Amino acid sequence: MSISHTSRSPAATAVSAMRALMLAALVLPLATAPAMADKAAVKRGQKVVDEWCRDCHVREGEKLTPDMAPPYSDLVAIPSRDRAWFEAFLEADHFPMTTFRLFDNEKADVVEWLLDLQKRQQGK
Ligand code: HEC
Repeated sequence: MSISHTSRSPAATAVSAMRALMLAALVLPLATAPAMADKAAVKRGQKVVDEWCRDCHVREGEKLTPDMAPPYSDLVAIPSRDRAWFEAFLEADHFPMTTFRLFDNEKADVVEWLLDLQKRQQGK
C-alpha cells in the first residue's frame, strides 16, 4: 500500500478533523463562561439586595406601603436607567440611602441583578 503525496491520505484528514474538534472543545467553554459568570453575579446581587436593601425597598411581589421606598420593578422601569446610571448611583451617597455601604464587588453584583430584573421586565 502506498501513501499518495498529491492528495491527502484518510489518516491526515482524520488528524485535521481531530484538531478541529479539539479546538472546538477548547474554545466552547470560553464562549459560554461570560454568560455563566453573569448568572452567578445576578444571584449574588439578589442576595445583597435581599439582605441590605429590604429595610426600605419592598421586594418583588410585596405590597407597597407609604413608608417604603419604591419597588425595584418601578426603579428599573424609569427611562435612562442603564448600567452606567446604576453604577454611578451605587458609587454615590444618596439621601436617604446613606445607611448602607457595599463592597465594590457587591455593588457590581447589585448592578447585574438590577439589569437582569430590567431585562426580565422588558421581556427580553
Ligand atoms: C434607608 C432606606 C433605603 C435603603 C437602605 C436603600 N434604599 Fe434605595 N432608595 C430609598 C428611597 C427613599 C429611594 C427613593 C429616593 C428618591 O426617589 O429620591 C430610593 C431609591 C433607589 C433607587 C432609584 C433611584 C432612581 O432615581 O432611579 C435605586 C436604584 C435604589 N434605591 C437602590 C437601592 C439598593 C440597591 C439598595 C441596597 C444596596 C438600597 N436602594 C437601599 C431608600 C433606601
